[in-house]
Amino acid sequence: MIRSLLFAPGDSEKKMTKASEGNADVVILDLEDSVSESQKVIARGMVTEFLKVKSKGVKPKLYVRVNPLDTEYCLSDIADIVTGAPAGILLPKCNSGSDIQKLSSYLDVLEVANGYPKNSIKIIAVATETAASVFNMGSYENCSVRLNGITWGAEDLGAAVRASTSLTSTKDWTSPYQMVRSLCLFGAYAANIEALDTVMADFRDTSQLAIVCDQARKDGFTGKLAIHPCQVDIINQAFTPTKEEIEHSRAVLALFEENPDAGTLQLDGKMIDKPHIEQAKKILDGIKNL
Ligand code: COA
Ligand code: MG
Repeated sequence: MIRSLLFAPGDSEKKMTKASEGNADVVILDLEDSVSESQKVIARGMVTEFLKVKSKGVKPKLYVRVNPLDTEYCLSDIADIVTGAPAGILLPKCNSGSDIQKLSSYLDVLEVANGYPKNSIKIIAVATETAASVFNMGSYENCSVRLNGITWGAEDLGAAVRASTSLTSTKDWTSPYQMVRSLCLFGAYAANIEALDTVMADFRDTSQLAIVCDQARKDGFTGKLAIHPCQVDIINQAFTPTKEEIEHSRAVLALFEENPDAGTLQLDGKMIDKPHIEQAKKILDGIKNL
C-alpha cells in the first residue's frame, strides 16, 4: 500500500535528503518538470549518485520521475538511474498501456545488465497528462506486472487543452478535471492497481488538504502525491485504515469463514455479501506492509 508519494527536485541535494528522511511511503526524485533544461543532465547525475548512496538505507521507497518517453532525455535517464537500483519509475505523459510495455521492455534489459531480479523495478504512470491519454484510461489492465498504480495530473493536461484554470473559486476541480480524476480511479481498479490522487499545489492550506484527502479516500483512492513535507503526515493519516475499519474487516471475513456456504449474512443489523468480502480483503492486504 502506497499512501504518500513526496516529490523532491532531482537537482536539490537538500530536498532529496530531507524528503528521504521523512515519513513518506515513496519519495519521487524528479528529473522532469521541476528541473530546468539547463539542469537536466546535472540532475540525472545527482539522482543516480543519491540512489547509489541512499537506496537501501532510507525508509521511503525511492522512485524516479524520468523525462517523457518521447524526449531526448528519457533513455539516458533510465539507463543511468537504474544503476542506482531505484524501487520504481514514475512515467510522466504516459499515453496508454503500450507506453508501459515499452518502458517495461527497456527495464527487462537493464535489470539483466545490472544483475537485478526480473521485474524488481516497479512503475507508476501519470496517466492523464495528454489529451490522447484520456481516451486510453482503460488500457492498463495486464500491460505489465511492474505497474503498481496510476495517478493523474491537471497542470499539463490544462496546458495541452489551453485551459485557463482547473479549479473553481471554491477550490473544486472544474468538470474536465473531475472527469479525468474519475477515469483514473476506474482505470486503476479495472487494472487492479493503486489509484493515486494528484498533488495539491497550494501546500500551505493544510486544512483543505485534509478535506481533499478524506474525499479522495471515500471515493476509493488509496494514496496521494505531495510536493511539500508538510503534506505527508496528513496524507498518511487520511489513507491509513482506521482501527474500526480493520476490526470490521476482520469481523466480515470471520463471519463468512464460520458460514462457508452462505452468500449473504448480516453483521450488526446490516447485510453483507461478496463486495463486502472483497473490500475487507483489500483493507487487510493494504495494512500488511505499513
Ligand atoms: N522535499 C523535501 N524538502 C522540501 C520540499 C520537498 N518537496 N519542499 C520544501 N522542502 C524543504 C525546504 O527546503 C525547506 O527546508 P529548510 O527548512 O531546511 O530550509 C523546508 O522544507 C520548508 O520549505 P518552504 O520554505 O516552506 O518551501 P520552499 O520555498 O523551500 O519550497 C517548493 C517550495 C514548492 C519550491 C518546494 O516545496 C518544492 O520544490 N516542491 C517539490 C516540487 C516538485 O518536485 N514538483 C514536481 C511535481 S508537481
Ligand atoms: Mg508536469
